[in-house]
Amino acid sequence: SAAEKGGYEYFMLKEIAEQPQAIADTLLGRLSDRGEIILDEVRLTDQDLRDVDKVFIVACGTSYHAGMVAKYAIEHWVRIPCEVELASEFRYRDPILDRSTLVIVISQSGETMDTLMALRHAKEQKARVLAICNTNGSTIPRESDAVLYTHGGPEIAVASTKAFLTQLVACYLIGLHLAQIRGVMYADEVAAVVEKLQATPDSLRTLLAGMEDVRALARDLKTASTILFIGRHVGFPVALEGALKLKELAYMHAEGFAAGELKHGPISLIDEGTPVVCVVPSPAGRGVMRDKVVSNIQEVRARGARTIVITEEGDDSVKAFADHLIVVPRTPTLLAPLMTTVPLQILACEIAAARGHDVDQPRNLAKSVTVE
Ligand code: AGP
Repeated sequence: SAAEKGGYEYFMLKEIAEQPQAIADTLLGRLSDRGEIILDEVRLTDQDLRDVDKVFIVACGTSYHAGMVAKYAIEHWVRIPCEVELASEFRYRDPILDRSTLVIVISQSGETMDTLMALRHAKEQKARVLAICNTNGSTIPRESDAVLYTHGGPEIAVASTKAFLTQLVACYLIGLHLAQIRGVMYADEVAAVVEKLQATPDSLRTLLAGMEDVRALARDLKTASTILFIGRHVGFPVALEGALKLKELAYMHAEGFAAGELKHGPISLIDEGTPVVCVVPSPAGRGVMRDKVVSNIQEVRARGARTIVITEEGDDSVKAFADHLIVVPRTPTLLAPLMTTVPLQILACEIAAARGHDVDQPRNLAKSVTVE
């Protein structure tokens, strides 16, 4: 009913709007007075976590994209090798696992069969399993050695939105916790990142208040035959997520690419007017990477692409190459997906609605996939 949707037309729009609160709730009570991260639901000892010499992150769909972002953060902060793998592929590859391997499984529902089977395989091989989950008491957290719950609240729409952003927050917290207990980061360094995380709900509110242009753009793109998404570093999983949302909801062809891979093949897809969504990294800190994406944007534009450029506030130099500019608030590079994903959620939702689809219940899909 309309009341259940809180006045929004779709649960998805309601859940997109709830994201600032969902992030704040997931961060609540996680920082001690001494600037240390508290993961109270984690039953592994600090010593267990110090013994970890390899991290695997295993998940499906959108949760897998959260895992891809986590890999960048964990390797950068913790300096432990970290691999991300689709749950449906993981165990069949016979991965090398033992007591000192930490397997992080990410699942909104906690009931995804592929992820559950991967978790069981990891446990059989004696790996430690830590679940990130949004559903209290579901099967995946019950079978894991430890769990960090995201406090996103119930997600009704089939397309994952607030669960994704809170999964990112949980991944950041785990990365910072590992870095701290292993002595790779000092408490004040951790607290500085947490402070930036705590600022994201407000930034996100500002961003959400200014999405009218994105809605208009969506109406304009509803007849496109394909939309391509490119990004680098943490912008790459954001590109994949933008494409997944569009396929899932609008039943349109869409693909996400690492921007640097374009020239190795996919650039042939670009034709006069092909919409290409470009996720531009922050100019701060990683200037080189940003400049590379800017040249990728020029490359696609030279071949006729219509560029939709997502960039940080204050980065005016990309304007010249953007047919449409979407500006997001500033964040440190690793946290940027908390901002850059959101316009892509709205884009997919509005394109799907403009095409007359049931946004909350796309065809052929279930909220949780309990078959392998
Ligand atoms: C996301 O929009 C999808 N509905 C889907 O990819 C989902 O993220 C995937 O099935 C994993 O679900 P889970 O997080 O509940 O395990």
